[in-house]
Amino acid sequence: MKISIIGAGMVGASIAYATMMKGIADEIALIDVNINLAEGHALDLSHGNPYVKPVRILGGDYFLSKNSDIVIITAGRSQKPGESRLQLIESNAELMKNIVKKTLSYSKSPLLLIVSNPVDVLTWVAWKVSGLPSHRVIGSGTTLDTARLRQNIAQHCHLDPRSVHAYVIGEHGDSEIVSWSTANVGGIPLETLCSACTASCEGSGVFERIFEDTKNAAYKIIEKKDATYFGIGLAVVRILEAIIGDSHSVLTISTVHNEFEGIKEVPFSVPSVLGRNGVERILPLKLSEKERAGLIKSALTIRKAIDTISK
Ligand code: 2OP
Repeated sequence: MKISIIGAGMVGASIAYATMMKGIADEIALIDVNINLAEGHALDLSHGNPYVKPVRILGGDYFLSKNSDIVIITAGRSQKPGESRLQLIESNAELMKNIVKKTLSYSKSPLLLIVSNPVDVLTWVAWKVSGLPSHRVIGSGTTLDTARLRQNIAQHCHLDPRSVHAYVIGEHGDSEIVSWSTANVGGIPLETLCSACTASCEGSGVFERIFEDTKNAAYKIIEKKDATYFGIGLAVVRILEAIIGDSHSVLTISTVHNEFEGIKEVPFSVPSVLGRNGVERILPLKLSEKERAGLIKSALTIRKAIDTISK
């Protein structure tokens, strides 16, 4: 299994590090326009090989990505404090086109995993430019937001986040929503759990606060340390595990939906089944009216952003 990571900034390097720790790849190629950076990270990482399942690590130019099974794209400008992901569209859409073209000149039909922001829009760009089927062009989408939500709920309710099943859906960005009506802990709907709990959170705005903290997490981190990378590194490796292990895992990745509520060719995240060939199935989500309206609004936000670059 050969994985290439285009963009050896902190996000790319964190993905390489976490992939290595998990022992799921045979070869990792780190590619960057800054060859020194890519080479340096590769050398540094390779020194950890005696402590993990050894992996061949390369760093440098595009030709090193030759014959990749999966290509992860993290390159692009990242948010400045206070800047939204959608504001990156102008700088990163053109770059994504070039990266995808270059990537495909070295690997015939790899699975593309898009991480650069705005991730939903760039997933659409990568899909259009590559000509690959939509199930093989995956955006990291709201996988990380879903992890943030589960962690925030778990922290509030004193639970293991792995036992919390709640999803952030729609855009990986300001219009995202939570599917509260399907949220559960160990199969027990959140509502039932709350009514049996002595904490009496109802009416205290806890759900709203958890959602705002989840949605605004990246802004807060960027304010403090200029960038986010550990969380996204682990989220991407969770996606990789599902693909490489052909595990049919349910993750909120972003994929291009041919049509959704009359909106054509729109990428967004909903719980989807992932395996070796990419997206296998989209799960039918039973949303409340309000949530459904929120999801449509989010999908429209993404589609409108795409329209600004596709004319
Ligand atoms: C994140 O949510 C910035 O999209 C990146 O951490």
